[in-house]
Amino acid sequence: MKTLLINLITVIMTTTTVSQKFSLAPLPYYKQSLEPYISEQTLMFHHDKHLAGYVAKLNELIEGTEYAYMTLEEIILKSDGAIFNNAAQTWNHQFYFDQFSSSPLREPSGAFAEAIRSKYGDIKGLKEHMTKAALALFGSGWVWLVCNDNGELDIVSTQNAGTPLTDGLHPLLTIDVWEHAYYIDYRNARAEGVKAFWEVLDWKVIEERYNKCCKR
Ligand SMILES: [Fe+2]
Repeated sequence: MKTLLINLITVIMTTTTVSQKFSLAPLPYYKQSLEPYISEQTLMFHHDKHLAGYVAKLNELIEGTEYAYMTLEEIILKSDGAIFNNAAQTWNHQFYFDQFSSSPLREPSGAFAEAIRSKYGDIKGLKEHMTKAALALFGSGWVWLVCNDNGELDIVSTQNAGTPLTDGLHPLLTIDVWEHAYYIDYRNARAEGVKAFWEVLDWKVIEERYNKCCKR
């Protein structure tokens, strides 16, 4: 009976802790559809080369380790070094690419719009604060609009692969301030890249994220 029980537990553990591989999520739009603001060539390199590279490297690094049985978010919260960098860059980029549209909603509404008004005056004020943070960030990194567990909005910057997830914050939108995000289209003019970013950002996506994570 004891042997039967041990065998049963072994079978359950084997079937519920299956090692997984992460895959490259496709873009939710055609690569040429964000032009002229973000070019097809930029998306070909940014998504098909950079993000694909992070995903492939992550799978290579976690194979045969405890991380092979975790979700992407769990890996980000529990790892460091190269595994953290590739896991966080995978998450950050998927989150980044999902926020654009060829026919974006230009402004949020409802509780989200009210929260923006309360903190930054209006949507223009929020964009100015985030743009300023993106231009001030030294080197590579990300600028985020987040909310905390109380639903309060804030703007934070992270270096390299850094993500607000490790501080318990809820990301709503992000500007990729790595040069690979804008160099093909705007060369060293980061300000031009950030200006173009706002033209294809879909506030419908951001408002849905707010309503899911921040609305009280
Ligand atoms: Fe990037």
